Amino acid sequence: MKYLLLVHHDEAAVDEIAKENQRQMLVESVRLTHQLHANKQYLSASPMGSGAARATVQTPMRPIISISNLAKTYASGLQALKRIDLDIRKGEIFALLGPNGAGKTTLINIVCGIVTPTSGVVLVDGHDIVREYRAARSKIGLVPQELTTDMFETVWATASFSRGLFGRAANPAHIEKVLRDLSLWEKRDDKIMTLSGGMKRRVLIAKALGHEPQILFLDEPTAGVDVELRRDMWALVRRLREGGVTIILTTHYIDEAEEMADRIGVIHKGELIVVEDKVKLMKKLGKKQLTLSLLEPLASIPLELSDWRLALKAAGHELEYTFDGNEERTDVPTLIKRLSELGIEFKDLNTSQSSLEDIFVSLVSDRK
Ligand SMILES: Nc1ncnc2c1ncn2[C@@H]1O[C@H](COP(=O)(O)OP(=O)(O)OP(=O)(O)O)[C@@H](O)[C@H]1O
Ligand SMILES: [Mg+2]
Repeated sequence: MKYLLLVHHDEAAVDEIAKENQRQMLVESVRLTHQLHANKQYLSASPMGSGAARATVQTPMRPIISISNLAKTYASGLQALKRIDLDIRKGEIFALLGPNGAGKTTLINIVCGIVTPTSGVVLVDGHDIVREYRAARSKIGLVPQELTTDMFETVWATASFSRGLFGRAANPAHIEKVLRDLSLWEKRDDKIMTLSGGMKRRVLIAKALGHEPQILFLDEPTAGVDVELRRDMWALVRRLREGGVTIILTTHYIDEAEEMADRIGVIHKGELIVVEDKVKLMKKLGKKQLTLSLLEPLASIPLELSDWRLALKAAGHELEYTFDGNEERTDVPTLIKRLSELGIEFKDLNTSQSSLEDIFVSLVSDRK
């Protein structure tokens, strides 16, 4: 009845209702997909018969964050996210990498409810970020890329602020622990504006952790901070993860992602071009290189060596052999044997392996 009346009186409102119904159907279909997936995994993991064995099978976990078909076009017409599908697993450290303007902050801000998506669905621990905003947001702590906090507040008040916001009772012991972990305890009564840039960053982390979130977003937390704070920060991230917190971070220091992350996502011009387990990614896309410093320079690579991917470097003084990092067995020993048969001697030998940074640069530049 309500719908009929609206058809006559307000077409825009009908449009809104239709859109909302469509969204709701999407949310339900994502939930259903998770349920079906979980059931399937459960059934395939459950041995028929043995009750004892069955009891030990764990019900598979649904993702703590589920992003489906997410797109964002800003009012300016700029399409910042094209079509993002991504599941974040509970308890993992996920590093989101990408060049400036790729869409990392947009994605994080949508999940945290700061930016409204144009289309798509995000569930945080099963809660729809649009319709169940408060429940979804209360699970999340966000350390934003830009410094934004009330400069006239004290460190203590800033760190305690979010508890009230998310309806949690005061817990001075927790706030004290957070401030001590971040070496801010001595500064607890100081106003934010009197702190240095690095300390303000620490306060933002304390603020994000105030309400004991299960999920922590760190949007470039180590940009412009000193070595000591960076080390403290990563130690804190590891401790949080041990306590079951899921961590999603962005960084332009790719060595950090290489050290910290379980999984890597690379975003480029609004599209997720890779999501992979870090170790697998490095194996799959990494290359190894063997460099031999020759005793006598070579003018060209002998025909007898054409089976190997070789290059002459340093005016013929170095022979470089590149091979896939994921090959279990390489033919390096055969190559060395062959060289000796050909009378090519070397005085030194070096091997190197591509870093996550090399892989990232090649992934992104391939798509320019
Ligand atoms: N409020 C806004 N209005 C219009 N365009 C925006 C807005 N915020 C971001 N953009 C644009 O959206 C694109 C993605 O920006 P975003 O901040 O998500 O990138 P990023 O990957 O976080 O980059 P960075 O590494 O520089 O932090 C950019 O082209 C940016 O200019
Ligand atoms: Mg950003």
